Amino acid sequence: MSLFVSRSTTSQNAFYKVIGLLRLLNLAYHHAHINAKGESYYGDHLLLQRLYEEGSSIEEIDSVMERMKGLFPEVPVSLSTVLKEVEHYARQFKAYDASTGTNPWPILIAIEMELQHQLDKAYKSVGEVKELAILDSGVANLLQGVADNHQKNLYLLQERNMKELTP
Ligand SMILES: [Fe+2]
Repeated sequence: MSLFVSRSTTSQNAFYKVIGLLRLLNLAYHHAHINAKGESYYGDHLLLQRLYEEGSSIEEIDSVMERMKGLFPEVPVSLSTVLKEVEHYARQFKAYDASTGTNPWPILIAIEMELQHQLDKAYKSVGEVKELAILDSGVANLLQGVADNHQKNLYLLQERNMKELTP
């Protein structure tokens, strides 16, 4: 396998992980929104709505997928690979438990932190391929923008989780 192909595959894998995590977050927020319960029901319902509408939007996922397609035009962006990543991360972080409405905060925080980690890896993988002069710097800006947006989510989740921990 040539150096170009192996670096390119590393970068594609990194993008699939990011897309899988973004899809999972959108779904996990939406289900936690629907199933919110308890004393803070209404506030949680609204917070989680904000998180799936703005914090992990379909438009954001679309931007990352379109950029991936632009980077690797010769291969389709695979639905089955994305679903595998969603399922993998859902199991790893017990996302199903977060969808029931009972204290979803620690799980959602853990998934957001994994996203930050994978965005960083994708960012670095793009940098490596960029040395081969095939990519534009807009990709780095896009990934940075996604990271910034999700750091806001982390702030909101951590504040809410603190409330849970301090009766
Ligand atoms: Fe709703």
